[in-house]
Amino acid sequence: MQAWVIGNWKQNPATSHEVDVLLDDLCAAMNTAKQISHDNFAHCQIMVAPSLIHLAAVQARLKDTPILCAAQDISAHSASTGAYTGECSAQQIADVGATWTILGHSERRQYHQESNDILLQKMTHALSQKLGVVFCIGETQAQYDAKQTLTVLDNQLTVVKALIDQQPELLDTLSTRLIIAYEPVWAIGTGKVPTVSEVSATHKHIKQTLAEFADSQANMTVLYGGSVNADNADSFAADPMIDGALVGGASLKAESFLTIASAFDK
Ligand code: 13P
Repeated sequence: MQAWVIGNWKQNPATSHEVDVLLDDLCAAMNTAKQISHDNFAHCQIMVAPSLIHLAAVQARLKDTPILCAAQDISAHSASTGAYTGECSAQQIADVGATWTILGHSERRQYHQESNDILLQKMTHALSQKLGVVFCIGETQAQYDAKQTLTVLDNQLTVVKALIDQQPELLDTLSTRLIIAYEPVWAIGTGKVPTVSEVSATHKHIKQTLAEFADSQANMTVLYGGSVNADNADSFAADPMIDGALVGGASLKAESFLTIASAFDK
């Protein structure tokens, strides 16, 4: 199974100049890796999700490289156009050449009150425009402490169940167009990480739950996110239940990001 390492740049970097420098560094390091190993991350798909203002430029710059480009979110209101000030649709994202979007990141759930209903709408719009979806789920510290992790994840995964119930025709392609990213909220940007065996057991539960929705979804890609860095990536990559990583802070430096990708490329 191919691994995925995805850089969520969030509201970074501050300037287009810094975006250019990061892309220069990424492309140079990819070329060096290719020269050394003769294959360019053959077992790991790399993707970056820049801030919306930078998305078109980053996609244009990466279109002839193996690196894919994703949005961090899309409009829930309409898949195409409309009077929705401040929003950007799935169609507009696809039109600039991006092929994926992140949805349901805990920062969006927290700061924008994104409910399961809204996320189902967004997921439907994304898939209608042929965008793949990286769907983020995860529990808070309080929920983790109260041992509610699996209950919380089950509730968040009802969005996928509702999608399948509404559009069973998606089942044939869903496992290649939907990726689940398990990101415990308490591990994001904190330097605190669950143990690999905890993540592994949680991923096993996620995969079993998806298989209960439909047998064909048993092999869905499940990534771990939350304080993944160049030092701990190897340990996550060694576990067969962890199909890759969704990386925040460490994706803003080419060296640490590609070290993580290399760990999952093995
Ligand atoms: P950090 O890697 O900075 O903890 O962020 C994880 C994340 O939220 C990726 O979506």
